[in-house]
Amino acid sequence: MEMLKLSNKGEMIRRAEPLFFWVGASTLALLALWLLYRLLTGFRIWVLGNGRLLSPKLGKWAVVTGATDGIGKSYAEELARRGFAMMLISRSQEKLDDVAKSLEAEFGVETRTIAVDFGKTDIYPKIEAGLSGLEIGVLVNNVGVSYPYPEYYLHIPDLDNFLTNMINVNMTSVCQVSLFLPGIGVILNISSASGMYPVPLLTVYSATKAFMDFFSRGLQEEYRRQGIIIQSVLPFFVATKMTRIRKPTLDKPTPDRYVAAELTTVGLQSQTNGYFPHAVMNILTRMNRLQRTGYLHRRKLREMKNGASLKNE
Ligand SMILES: NC(=O)c1ccc[n+]([C@@H]2O[C@H](COP(=O)([O-])OP(=O)(O)OC[C@H]3O[C@@H](n4cnc5c(N)ncnc54)[C@H](OP(=O)(O)O)[C@@H]3O)[C@@H](O)[C@H]2O)c1
Repeated sequence: MEMLKLSNKGEMIRRAEPLFFWVGASTLALLALWLLYRLLTGFRIWVLGNGRLLSPKLGKWAVVTGATDGIGKSYAEELARRGFAMMLISRSQEKLDDVAKSLEAEFGVETRTIAVDFGKTDIYPKIEAGLSGLEIGVLVNNVGVSYPYPEYYLHIPDLDNFLTNMINVNMTSVCQVSLFLPGIGVILNISSASGMYPVPLLTVYSATKAFMDFFSRGLQEEYRRQGIIIQSVLPFFVATKMTRIRKPTLDKPTPDRYVAAELTTVGLQSQTNGYFPHAVMNILTRMNRLQRTGYLHRRKLREMKNGASLKNE
């Protein structure tokens, strides 16, 4: 009797073998296809790029906020190199004049400036007047501020003013300047990798950058059909005044190197880290998070099991 049962089981397994084979083979084939797709997409974005998309054919003018230093200044230079007339918006008229002069001298392009403090909310009529009548091809919402140093929320010096300033500069600016959206071909919103996950001790900065990312991606869905490209840009560290990184490295590039790489992704990714080493860092961060979640989940299950077995004793 026992022998008969065993031979029946063996027969069942033999019959199921082709099924197992095809399930395994299809899973492997799907995995290989997915991997190939990811590789080809990566090659398209990071090797071939879309560098020619941004040209004055989109509209004569490019507008950059926070254009007098760091990443914003590099965007202004790269867009002027491509032939855009430049509208520079930042805080200090003196610095704006310096950047405008150097762009005119180096690239022979027309420039205009608007000096405003994005920490204030009464500046938008002045910006509207400055932009009115311009044929805007590209808008870079770059202006942003971070913490002077990482700090616990309630210990941030002059917390009230700090909050008002950071919310106005990092969030209100992107909403208000995007009101000029009709007619603009491409909008780049410079968020941050700190907006992908909560970053303790930089909590408010991280939250404002998450807002910018969500705002950007939502807007892209709303206006995609009208042919407007809206990209959310999430850099990790870039060597600028904000980060006080003086020595650039492969993973902490100069703003020029970062911007040159980022501009090749426009039109290919609506959310991007903009620079290949930063995209790799993003994948590694995600893998670490998945591993952490899995580990904590397993540990919780183990603890529940141990608790239950202790109760039963
Ligand atoms: N650097 C990074 O590692 C990094 C990483 C992720 C995301 N980001 C984001 O990239 C953007 C640019 O950062 P960055 O590192 O290039 O910064 P940055 O070197 O500090 O330059 C900021 C620019 O914004 C202007 N600005 C600052 N506050 C302003 C205000 N209240 N009103 C008007 N203009 C103001 C500055 O003008 P002044 O010269 O007059 O101060 C400067 O031109 C920010 O949105 C930042 O959050 C940077």
